[in-house]
Amino acid sequence: MTTLTEDMKSLVNTQKMGFVATVSSDGSPNLSPKGTTLTFDDETLVFSLINSDNTLTNLKSNPKVEINVVDPQEQKGFKFSGDATIHTEGEQLDKAVSMYKDNGVTNINTIVLVKVNSAVELASPKYDA
Ligand SMILES: Cc1cc2nc3c(=O)[nH]c(=O)nc-3n(C[C@H](O)[C@H](O)[C@H](O)COP(=O)(O)O)c2cc1C
Repeated sequence: MTTLTEDMKSLVNTQKMGFVATVSSDGSPNLSPKGTTLTFDDETLVFSLINSDNTLTNLKSNPKVEINVVDPQEQKGFKFSGDATIHTEGEQLDKAVSMYKDNGVTNINTIVLVKVNSAVELASPKYDA
């Protein structure tokens, strides 16, 4: 498990936009944006399933997920990999619903928690110079 740094938490919770890649049953990638991406605890990201049938289907058969969160102005970000679990009830859903309310998002009834196994910093080539 990877512990999320303060830099990671700050970037994710400011941008709130994760590009979520899952694996389809035929092995092809599926990528879609999730504007509900937040940090859930020191090792976990959360996003909400609102209108993402393919992501839901894929995660039910393969929990592997990769999420890129980028600050487009700074041209920096992080690539997170982990294992997902889907939650439609319980304490963790309640905690997430409360977090979303604090962020002005309501009507959340399905969340995905992603235990982060690895986190890699992303930086634009402009930083190479
Ligand atoms: C900026 C943006 C943010 C979005 N945020 C979410 C989100 O947080 N949760 C969600 O389920 N769908 C969200 N969507 C909608 C899905 O990305 C979209 O319905 C997509 O087609 C789902 O693809 P999938 O079924 O392959 O996962 C968002 C779309 C955009 C453009």
